[in-house]
Amino acid sequence: MTKIPMVHREIKRFSDGECYVRLHESLNNEDVILIQNSYPDSNIIEYFLLVDAIRQYEIKSLTSIIPYFGYGRQDKRFNEGEPISAKVFAEHLSENVDRIITINLHNPEVINWFKVPAMEIKAEKILAKYFEKFNPDIIISPDKGSMERAKYLSELLNKPFVTLEKKRIDSETVEIQTGNIDVKNKVVAIIDDMISTGGTIATASSILKNLGASKIVVGCVHGLFVANALNRIQRSVDVIFSTDTIENEKSVVSVAGEIAQKIL
Ligand code: R5P
Repeated sequence: MTKIPMVHREIKRFSDGECYVRLHESLNNEDVILIQNSYPDSNIIEYFLLVDAIRQYEIKSLTSIIPYFGYGRQDKRFNEGEPISAKVFAEHLSENVDRIITINLHNPEVINWFKVPAMEIKAEKILAKYFEKFNPDIIISPDKGSMERAKYLSELLNKPFVTLEKKRIDSETVEIQTGNIDVKNKVVAIIDDMISTGGTIATASSILKNLGASKIVVGCVHGLFVANALNRIQRSVDVIFSTDTIENEKSVVSVAGEIAQKIL
């Protein structure tokens, strides 16, 4: 096994909330890896300061690993006057790093907006292994955006898949049409790239439970679970899990191995 030492670093906040970082080791002549999400906002500040702190040394290279790329959903100007936030952060997070590795971008096209070579790791395979334990009868994508993911899972587990029709009303509310779906007495697996407010999954799963699903198992890559998302979801969902791109009480599937493989 290759062992890569971890750098002793200090990160704290001043009384006014400003961020302070310090590296307690020299990084001269090293290939350096920085792992930091661009979510929540406080992590973005840490990222920029850490990149600058790292760059004071004569390093060989700096690889930035962004397990969850925040702001990825604002990938166009939905309304006049808005920024394209995903582009803003893809460009700025590229500054002073040599390459970027990220996991399941909300829109895979965003990879082209980074200004340095960038690579996206897909976590579906490791999610599939976990889903397998529950032996689902049917795989559901809660919207068109996750259709390819559900299809991939259905091929791996050799089960049928169905894509639901989702209409977003506001940031916490969605409307979902199931069409002619038969889930009576079936174990249903729902896969999504992320769960934020839980609106999508709570709505989809309550409809599926009303249609007679015997068990609902939900897995996602990025578990943001903001506010009372988990409470909302757990009303109709039997099992919920995510990867640890954002560590939380449901992050039982680790992406560490996938990242390590890419690094090596
Ligand atoms: C949407 O396109 C995404 O794939 C997720 O379905 C969505 O972002 C989840 O958000 P929420 O949990 O707030 O419904």
